[in-house]
Amino acid sequence: MKVRKAVVVAAGMGTRMLPASKVIPKEILPVVDKPAIQIVVEETVASGIGEIVMVLSPGRTTVLDHFRSAPELESLLERRLRHDLLEIVRYTNSLARFHTAHQHEPLGLGHAVLQAREAVGDEPFAVILPDDIFDGARPCLRQLLDVAERKDAPVVALMRVARSEIPKYGIVAVEPAGPRLHRLTGMVEKPAIPDAPSDLAIMGRYVLTPDIFPLLAEGKPGAGGEIQLTDALMALSERRALYGCEFEGVRYDLGDRLGFLEAQIGFGLKRPELADRLRAYLKTVLSS
Ligand code: UTP
Repeated sequence: MKVRKAVVVAAGMGTRMLPASKVIPKEILPVVDKPAIQIVVEETVASGIGEIVMVLSPGRTTVLDHFRSAPELESLLERRLRHDLLEIVRYTNSLARFHTAHQHEPLGLGHAVLQAREAVGDEPFAVILPDDIFDGARPCLRQLLDVAERKDAPVVALMRVARSEIPKYGIVAVEPAGPRLHRLTGMVEKPAIPDAPSDLAIMGRYVLTPDIFPLLAEGKPGAGGEIQLTDALMALSERRALYGCEFEGVRYDLGDRLGFLEAQIGFGLKRPELADRLRAYLKTVLSS
């Protein structure tokens, strides 16, 4: 299969990050100096997908402004001969081609994906949750696309989690299918620890086929009263093979306060101009 489009869902309420997310959608909160949404768009483009459907809440569309030109800022930087900054600002203007879909009420991830149906059409597509960001030698989405192309089947990103973390995630039952590869035989959204079929949790990257849309449209509210993508995936797995890829790399949960802090430190330590001073600062803080 050839995947040309990615759906980025950014219409949630972000209650775990209040009050930061009261006015500013959590997707434009920065990691060091880069909004989370730019990090995931760069991952998508680096994975070979240049067309993005952004699912937004109608009142909170500022997420897309980040990818529009900013004429006043650009001419000011030009006048001041700040070509270095001009390049940084202009880079985002042509990063990808964007389409918009609206989710009028945050009725769940499955419902958000369904709003992109028309923009996606009848072809396979990727789904990106921008509060999950990844760092690794190869983009997480690219790792999934490689499997999807090889198997000609939908794929989800998987990561092993600590037992105590299990109730936060969609957890899968699996059969081995290769190195870091699993065939999905079942899944359950946010299970109690004793009910979990494994410690493999679904993370925020998917490669899906358009036959998921009718299943989402039929979907009834599940865990938390939301229309869950996991329930539609479960129904899809009864009709065709579905795979899970244990990606290589580190994942940060930006929707969570601790994950947000970890991302600042993790990405900060990767910046040559910051790393030494940040490391020294962390040592001082830890020893005091
Ligand atoms: P989360 O599960 O983090 O939910 O969504 P949330 O509402 O954003 O945040 P909390 O739990 O209240 O803090 C994962 C991704 O799915 C999108 C979110 O924007 C986020 O990127 N989402 C979720 C939607 O677009 N619509 C929804 O109805 C739910």
